[in-house]
Amino acid sequence: MHRRQFCHSALMITASSWLLPGGSVSAQTTQRSLAAEDSRIKPLLAKMTLDEKLGQMVQAELGNLKDEADISKYSLGSVLSGGGADPAEGNSLQAWTDTVDRLIAQSRKSRLGIPVLYGVDAVHGHGNVLGATVYPHNIGLGCTRNAALVEALGHVTALEVRASGIHWTFAPCVAVPRDDRWGRTYEGFSEDPALVAELGAAAVRGMQQGGLQNPQAVLACAKHYVGDGGTSWGSTKRRDGSSGMDQGNTEIDEAGLRKVHLPGYQAAVAAGVGSIMVSYNSWNGVKASGIAHLLTDILKKELGFEGFLVSDYYAIGQIDSDYKKALMLSINAGMDMAMEPAQYQRFITTLRELVQEGSVSMARIDDAVTRILRVKSVMGLLDAGREQLADRKLHASFGGAAHRELARTAVRESLVLLKNDKQILPLKRSARRIHVAGIGADDIGMQCGGWTVEWQGKMGAVTSGGTTILQGLRYAAPKTTITYAVDGKGVEGADVCVVVAGETPYAEGVGDKADLSLSADDLALLARMQQSGVPVVLLVLSGRPQILGAALDQAAAIVAAWLPGTEGLGVADVLFGDHAPTGKLSVSWPRTMAQEPVNVGDAKYDPLFPYGYGLGYKA
Ligand code: GLC
Repeated sequence: MHRRQFCHSALMITASSWLLPGGSVSAQTTQRSLAAEDSRIKPLLAKMTLDEKLGQMVQAELGNLKDEADISKYSLGSVLSGGGADPAEGNSLQAWTDTVDRLIAQSRKSRLGIPVLYGVDAVHGHGNVLGATVYPHNIGLGCTRNAALVEALGHVTALEVRASGIHWTFAPCVAVPRDDRWGRTYEGFSEDPALVAELGAAAVRGMQQGGLQNPQAVLACAKHYVGDGGTSWGSTKRRDGSSGMDQGNTEIDEAGLRKVHLPGYQAAVAAGVGSIMVSYNSWNGVKASGIAHLLTDILKKELGFEGFLVSDYYAIGQIDSDYKKALMLSINAGMDMAMEPAQYQRFITTLRELVQEGSVSMARIDDAVTRILRVKSVMGLLDAGREQLADRKLHASFGGAAHRELARTAVRESLVLLKNDKQILPLKRSARRIHVAGIGADDIGMQCGGWTVEWQGKMGAVTSGGTTILQGLRYAAPKTTITYAVDGKGVEGADVCVVVAGETPYAEGVGDKADLSLSADDLALLARMQQSGVPVVLLVLSGRPQILGAALDQAAAIVAAWLPGTEGLGVADVLFGDHAPTGKLSVSWPRTMAQEPVNVGDAKYDPLFPYGYGLGYKA
């Protein structure tokens, strides 16, 4: 563990110091309007062949390129790395940067030399890359209620993404999760549309800080449009036949859709977001990827969205078993770019047929390509003579102390104190012994959750840098005896026991779960610790509220820590009282599963801990 990671308050970075001079400025005010690029794009569009236009409308995946030369051969518009799709050369920042530079250079060999946009899921920092600063997932950021902090984190994300040469992150997720059984609940800021809108816009401003013309800004992507957080449990079946809800059916009338699920997009568009990802889910039984009323009438016409729409991963093919029909429906509905990881040639061939037979108009193709080129133009990718290679000067700050200090601030402010009998918290440095237990106590992979190096994340040392919660406690109290046993052995005689329990990493539908009770192992551990007579502090690492059951009485104090990321030191800051807990629940915390879905504003509303709940320390 390098000392550099434990920076002192002298380096304490406050959120506001990350914003451009003069405080936060919305990308709208500093960003040139995207439509203003059209005069520059028109001559380029006129030169393009049909196939070059179709190439710009498709996104391939790094690991699925049949040949990197396909990028120039088909004049591909974009390449992505999905979760865990690291460069073959390895997962270092150097390997990522070299790979992206190589692919950009490849794209410049095409007839018109239009560079590819490279996209990645930097959803809580540049989590794909070893050594990146990984901050709390959105559910925890929602509990901070701190838009300036979220904006600052967006800017740090931009710096670390740009360090690797990448232009585009598929974030922020502005889902409004309404049923915690959803495996993507943690990707949403809150069940409250207004909070989602406020923080989603802040994330866009931070990521696109200074406008997309700023070479240290990244293209943000509000997702998943629209209603991804409102699907019904059981509306999808998983491969093993069990019920799920991810990519399922959102059953709600238009008024309800607008009230609950649209605000995040209204705010993101107003903040100048340059791309929006269309959702897998259906709206009242029809796949969103093919609904013109959503993609064109509401988003492009009513909200005036000037950027481009990208599909989710092979989502277009879910519209109809006949791919040609599905593609026609989606492009005509207003989809501009298709995420077709290995099927980019099929996309081009099929769409060429559709245009040649008149099923898709050239006007629609030109609109889609114009929208994509607007973004490339405002980002300087069409500027003659610019190599477009990565700014490697940014490597020095990648995963560095200053970024980690901001992430540590976010960890502190994301924690929600749910219970604190007899003021057992804050812990005392003067304690004779503090005993630590639980599967999450010394596990940075569990702290980070999904979308961290691996698509699903993974337990253990998933990434380098950062501090586990145990390491943070020991650093924060070097003179205090802090013992540890994952199974709690040796607790007898300690002044207090800290149990770190909760969910092991997951992402997307893999995390759909009918029962959110704490695991039997966690409950058994808590029971043993309580029987020892030593007072227990329970720290819950999870992507959503957990059904506490007996733990509610067994623990003297309970802290919701969500998925804090790499800076476990931020947890110690609060547990030892160097910073008081300020987090307020961004989601309602149910008593039992029978209450799901439970959301603030429900007619019958009786959760264990209501939306907005959070204790402080008594003075
Ligand atoms: C995934 C997710 C989406 C992500 C995309 C690329 O299936 O639904 O959030 O941005 O594919 O990884």
